[in-house]
Amino acid sequence: MKAIQIHHPAGLDNLKLGDVADAAAPGPGQIMVRLRASSLNFHDYAVVIGMIPTPELRIPMSDGAGEVVAVGEGVTGYKVGDAVVTTFFPEWLDGRPPEGGFTRVPGDGIDGYACEYVTAATTSFTHAPKGYTHAEAATLTCAGLTAWRALAVEGGMKAGDTVLVQGTGGVSIFALQFAKMSGATVIATSSSNEKLERLKALGADHVINYKENPGWGPMALEMTGGQGVDHVVEVGGPGTLDQSMMACRIGGHVSLIGVLTGMQGPVMTALLMHRNLKIQGITVGSRQQQLDMIAAINATGMKPVLDQHFPLAHLGDAFRHQESGRHFGKIVVDI
Ligand SMILES: NC(=O)c1ccc[n+]([C@@H]2O[C@H](COP(=O)([O-])OP(=O)(O)OC[C@H]3O[C@@H](n4cnc5c(N)ncnc54)[C@H](OP(=O)(O)O)[C@@H]3O)[C@@H](O)[C@H]2O)c1
Repeated sequence: MKAIQIHHPAGLDNLKLGDVADAAAPGPGQIMVRLRASSLNFHDYAVVIGMIPTPELRIPMSDGAGEVVAVGEGVTGYKVGDAVVTTFFPEWLDGRPPEGGFTRVPGDGIDGYACEYVTAATTSFTHAPKGYTHAEAATLTCAGLTAWRALAVEGGMKAGDTVLVQGTGGVSIFALQFAKMSGATVIATSSSNEKLERLKALGADHVINYKENPGWGPMALEMTGGQGVDHVVEVGGPGTLDQSMMACRIGGHVSLIGVLTGMQGPVMTALLMHRNLKIQGITVGSRQQQLDMIAAINATGMKPVLDQHFPLAHLGDAFRHQESGRHFGKIVVDI
């Protein structure tokens, strides 16, 4: 089968399409899936440029969607032709996050889904939402589930809450959509005034240009009438955390998700304590959380916001597009 592999030194010019061994016939409890789509995450970018080192010839991409083409002995719940989507942590089924970090994560610690076929245990997949294209389904594995877990699971978001989302990447747009789906008020930021208009069209109640207003935290606080936001989906990291905390209500919940501004930095610990804030690290989510998210999507008909499509052979160009920061929502790859 065809696959994209990372050649060393890792970099966008060294992502090469080639022939690799075919996926094995499914054993007991396994299914074989013809992958049809993947989608880009910042994490995949970090892998393909070598920021996260991997062995040579690693197949990248954590997200995958496609249809079942063969089922192994004893498989129940899946049949040939079913549309499925992969899970980020194939071994994290429920309960607490697993030990071992990303060592068993497809497209990082093990081969991922920039290829035509995969054979794995049924627990490495869930059914895709009803009526989704494969490209739409592929956006859920990482970005969709991360936003869902941050707000619906760990944040306990409810109607009437206020949610702050940062920028217009995959996680943040999903967070906006899940927040609106739940009856929350949304404050959204972007570096681009044109993108702010698109955020409003998606339902954002208040928008702030974070480039023009580096002190956007107190502005967001003011937009809530001085009460503060209930939840922040923090994708910036050290460069944005202080502003996020300034925007929060007493006892507000900050989901610490991203590293867009770096890996470490000073934090206003006195503000954190004074406001009784809850700051929680998040690494995607479990298969059970993915099942719950898909049930919510099926009930509401919510669809992800897709940016451009690229063919698998042009994966490097897809990442160049992500690198440019011009995208809005999810960049997808057709396989
Ligand atoms: N912990 C986890 O489980 C998890 C899961 C998924 C993603 N992440 C992390 O979350 C972050 C976002 O990932 P993604 O895949 O959604 O990325 P992405 O699609 O590449 O989104 C990047 C967008 O973030 C915005 N941005 C950049 N710098 C910003 C800043 N200083 N303040 C506010 N917004 C900023 C920009 O939006 P504008 O163009 O609108 O300004 C940019 O387009 C990454 O750090 C990624 O590693 C973590």
